[in-house]
Amino acid sequence: MKDGLVHSLEAYYYTDPKIYAQETQGLFARTWQFAGHSSWLRKPGDYFVFEIAGESLFCVKGRDGVCRTFYNVCQHRAHQLVKGEGTARVIVCPYHSWTYELTGELRSGPNIGSVPGFDRTDICLTEVRTELFLGFVFVNLDPQAEPMETWYPGARAELESFVPHHADLEPVEWVEIHEGCNWKVSVENYSECYHCSLNHPTFSTGVVKPETYDIQPQGHCLRHRTECQNLDRMAYRIDTSVPHADEYSSWYLWPMFSFQVYPGNVLNTYHWRPEGVDRVRVRRGWYARTGEDVSSVKCLAEQDRRTTVEEDIHLVESVQRGLSSRGYCPGPLVLDPCGGVNSEHSIQTLQSWMREAVNV
Ligand code: FES
Ligand SMILES: [Fe+2]
Repeated sequence: MKDGLVHSLEAYYYTDPKIYAQETQGLFARTWQFAGHSSWLRKPGDYFVFEIAGESLFCVKGRDGVCRTFYNVCQHRAHQLVKGEGTARVIVCPYHSWTYELTGELRSGPNIGSVPGFDRTDICLTEVRTELFLGFVFVNLDPQAEPMETWYPGARAELESFVPHHADLEPVEWVEIHEGCNWKVSVENYSECYHCSLNHPTFSTGVVKPETYDIQPQGHCLRHRTECQNLDRMAYRIDTSVPHADEYSSWYLWPMFSFQVYPGNVLNTYHWRPEGVDRVRVRRGWYARTGEDVSSVKCLAEQDRRTTVEEDIHLVESVQRGLSSRGYCPGPLVLDPCGGVNSEHSIQTLQSWMREAVNV
């Protein structure tokens, strides 16, 4: 705070590789991160590999139906265990074929019985905290992390009521977007609608009523709500007997995931994966019920990619270039005491989390 106003974050937060390294080692390793969708783990032994905070990890479904996550590293001499995705009866290390149960315990290894005092029950893969949230697998590398309900109070129950068919969903479309900016520039852009009327003509004149758009913190979740209009002009049929079918809402889960529900209870998601201090990959996921006609969801995904997403890419990349300019001095946030679509309260909240993340 200076001159009595709240100013935007200093530019080095978005450009300094040291800050980025601190976030990778710290923030990303102690917050809840999206791993994948439970529809990728249908049968016992199904697994997929993913990366968080520079660590290779894999999720696997046990014979007891539980989805567990492990560091992708053998407890013998550190070879990587699995690649990509697949189904395994047991996890066999490709180096010396030590073999692990789907629950992580060491089951066998060539000649280990010859070693006096070798107790295989002492050896287990290193497990990572895992939660299923509406069928989405989230992990947290911090063993002491608070559960997602503490981080994002109420979000799970609200989402369950907005997406009553959540247990039957599977991803039907992934849209991948590469942005030449720091992940925080992209997340900030997502988290305010002060730029919407000028930059998103389709969004602003479509089904949402921009003047009612509001974003409020709910723990470490930013909850977006807006009233809708012109629902009869939607390109797909909406069954208004389903609760919340005529609403638009979104739940951004700090730091890098967001659930959105479009009118008609259509679930779609954003997740951010930083690929460097000035590069981020954003993936949009679109979901439908198994067996449902997916053409309207695909149409929606395509329209969103062509309009809002494309419009935002230009904004965030221009901001990143500006943050490297010697001519930039962080300006005051527009904090309208009445809140609303043209206020940047959500940016103030987000930037306080961003500051805390590297000041611990
Ligand atoms: S490193 Fe895995 S069995 Fe040797
Ligand atoms: Fe935008």
